[in-house]
Amino acid sequence: MKASKNWLGLTALALLGYQTQAMAQAEQQVSYNGEVGRIINENCVVCHREGGIGPMHLSNYDQVRPWAPLIQLRVANREMPPYSYDHGIGIQELQGDWRLQQDEIDTIVAWVNQGAPLGDPDQAVPVPVLNDPSEWNFVEQLGQPDVIIPSVSMDIPANGNDLWSNHYVESTINTDRCIKAVQVKPRGNAKAVVHHANSSVELLLDDGSFERYGQLTEYAMGKWGEIVPNGVCRTIPAGSMVRWSIHMFPGGLGATAPGTIIKDNVVEIGLWLHPEGYEEQAQYKQDLKLYQISPQDDLVIPPNGYQMTQGFHSFDHPVRIDSFQPHGHLRMNAASLEIFYPANGQTEQISQISNWSATWHHSHIYEPDVAPLLPTGAVLVLKQWYDNTAANPNNPDPDMWVVGGSRTGDEMTHAWIAVTHLDDEGFEKLVAERKAKEDRTLAGND
Ligand code: HEC
Repeated sequence: MKASKNWLGLTALALLGYQTQAMAQAEQQVSYNGEVGRIINENCVVCHREGGIGPMHLSNYDQVRPWAPLIQLRVANREMPPYSYDHGIGIQELQGDWRLQQDEIDTIVAWVNQGAPLGDPDQAVPVPVLNDPSEWNFVEQLGQPDVIIPSVSMDIPANGNDLWSNHYVESTINTDRCIKAVQVKPRGNAKAVVHHANSSVELLLDDGSFERYGQLTEYAMGKWGEIVPNGVCRTIPAGSMVRWSIHMFPGGLGATAPGTIIKDNVVEIGLWLHPEGYEEQAQYKQDLKLYQISPQDDLVIPPNGYQMTQGFHSFDHPVRIDSFQPHGHLRMNAASLEIFYPANGQTEQISQISNWSATWHHSHIYEPDVAPLLPTGAVLVLKQWYDNTAANPNNPDPDMWVVGGSRTGDEMTHAWIAVTHLDDEGFEKLVAERKAKEDRTLAGND
């Protein structure tokens, strides 16, 4: 009696087990027309299409199918879409975040393991409607830029040493304005050879000399653009001149490098502006600045070796950190941002990029309601790591000593950070707003 009961119980369990497995398998049947096409259309086609920056096209099943194994590898390693930012460390709510969700990655991996099937031929995934790839990135959200500021055209040879161009252009801004968003865009093929393009705002003084007002924006390879949070003003004053500082690498870098002469290379800044008068409404100023991590002259990386830098910055007033963009060159492979609170001795991790690559520079823009708030005296702790061994895929020569400098083969150690400068009242208001929101969420009312 007892035995048969056990036997029955076991059978029931075995049946149940079999059923769940079968159900799970049925659930995991993945196809291109099922969900994979949607994931690829939404996350990959913007670059992998005619005129896009990706090396092959992924607009339909026939184009995708031959690449399935490589897609699986790049997606599983989180190398594609190209947005390195660690999961599980610090703030995860970012604007313009290209990372796939873990379940999307799992879906692609399972699909390739199953032989990358098309699925039901009658259920074709709709062809994505996308902007022209030479369009501005924010055109859908914000329309065309209000102002476009081009650099002076120049030809870039097919190969040779690094080139720089520093020059002034007029901004055509004639009243003080607040910037809503900004993108820098090298025209056409220039994107493979323009390593970075910095732009600052300068004011022409009566005696004919220039005075630096501040940074306008920063561009480095692969960067998308910057959005300034609502309610603050990143000012561009009336009569601004723009000083371009463009660094080019003839022949180009990365898989899309053309290795040819680029004629008429022009880099453009697109500016989206708030309406006139926004400055009075916006209580606080935001600025974008370069935060040096350690003195550039101190940076020395031994052949086949590693290096790490660390730097500290604090403010004499409360601030909000709106975005974080680490900067280095071919040996840099990781970066992090932490905040140290001297009041209680605690350190908070904010962001880490463990797989940093010089071909993709991202300004990691924190969602405004989670952007770090620093009381007066809290310290930004910036760290960057360098790998000069052959294990670093970007390393052109592991047997070379690498020192701090501006050439592509030298290294740099700094970060671009957008900061909203608050006062005590503004800081306390933001803290209170977040606390109220948290309480509402805890109470289930949000
Ligand atoms: C922002 C533009 C962009 C997006 C978005 C993007 N890619 Fe790419 N992809 C590139 C570029 C540029 C390269 C070549 C340089 C490199 O490998 O980094 C590349 C390379 C690849 C490669 C390697 C090709 C080779 O020959 O080695 C694969 C595979 C790939 N992408 C798949 C994807 C998939 C799948 C997605 C979406 C989940 C995606 N990419 C999203 C721009 C992009």
